[in-house]
Amino acid sequence: MSGPPAPQSAPARRLTELLAPVAGDLATVEGWLQSQFEPSDEALQPLLAHLGRFRGKRLRAAQVLLVGRACGGLRPVHVAVAGIIEMIHAATLVHDDLLDGARQRRGQPCLHERWGAHAAVLLGDWVYARAFLRSTGLEDGLCSRVLAEATGRVCRGEILQNLSRGRFDLTEEEYMEQIDGKTGALYEAGGRLAAAYAGAPEEVAAAAAAHGRDAGRAFQMMDDLLDLTGDPERVRKSLGTDWAGGKMTLPLIRLRERLAPGLRRRLETAFQAGGDPGILRREPFRGPFEEAVEECRSEIRALLVRAASSLETLPAGPDRDALARLTEFLGVRPF
Ligand code: IPE
Ligand code: IPE
Ligand code: MG
Ligand code: MG
Repeated sequence: MSGPPAPQSAPARRLTELLAPVAGDLATVEGWLQSQFEPSDEALQPLLAHLGRFRGKRLRAAQVLLVGRACGGLRPVHVAVAGIIEMIHAATLVHDDLLDGARQRRGQPCLHERWGAHAAVLLGDWVYARAFLRSTGLEDGLCSRVLAEATGRVCRGEILQNLSRGRFDLTEEEYMEQIDGKTGALYEAGGRLAAAYAGAPEEVAAAAAAHGRDAGRAFQMMDDLLDLTGDPERVRKSLGTDWAGGKMTLPLIRLRERLAPGLRRRLETAFQAGGDPGILRREPFRGPFEEAVEECRSEIRALLVRAASSLETLPAGPDRDALARLTEFLGVRPF
């Protein structure tokens, strides 16, 4: 028996409100996505059924829809572009969870937890392949070209991060390069494609791409903060995997920079051991960690202000305003 839906938290209600202008179009994208996971191939059925239940916030789809509307109006191609980007994102998550040793994603066990590493690698590849097959069916080669380039940047960002595991001396520039690829690239592609398929001139498409890139980078910075400070019930995925996997992220870089040499060595020992990240919440790290977290929040706000200023090149109107409000939410989201 299914009871009434669980009450939403205030931030979840806020996100629902922010997505309301494109709720109908998002439902169309959802239907499109579900149809991609309905295989005629019986052998893949259980894995694809799992992916079909595997629903995220759909922020990348919402970005495509809002940019498309703001830049001249939605066409059927926008639904496919939004769906293809969400598929590529889902494939990166299947692979990323395996690399990070995560156990839970979107409130469900990770795919590799149920079917093992080999299945996760191969199903992630299957999803990429399916997404690119769909993009080749669109009206021109733009989507395939832009997304192939972006996916290469996403993989490069993940490779750089994996090669730098355990490096306590990672610089902020190196970190920024990693997140620019990992997450900035796909949001940038979403902005560019949504504007171009709405018929926007190059100047507007470039501004939508710049907005996406900064918003995506800020999004990953917030994700890295949530990995260390988030509430697992809200986030609905494994947290603490960056610390456990030896990934230096911005809050840790800023903490390291605040510490005198003795404490810095103690932090490095704890980081290399990858034990309980609760150490960051206890003396002597608690105060400087809180300051580092505040610094990260202000870096995120600064990137989002720049993202919002890129939006000024898009035609003014309610859709651009809705996108600006969604962009602002990325700086305060708790999930
Ligand atoms: C998680 O992205 C992966 C990152 C790039 C940080 P989301 O938080 O958008 O994941 P879903 O799609 O809502 O699950
Ligand atoms: C992954 O970054 C981003 C990708 C591009 C796959 P994270 O490892 O921080 O993402 P989560 O926290 O597992 O969602
Ligand atoms: Mg991860
Ligand atoms: Mg993360």
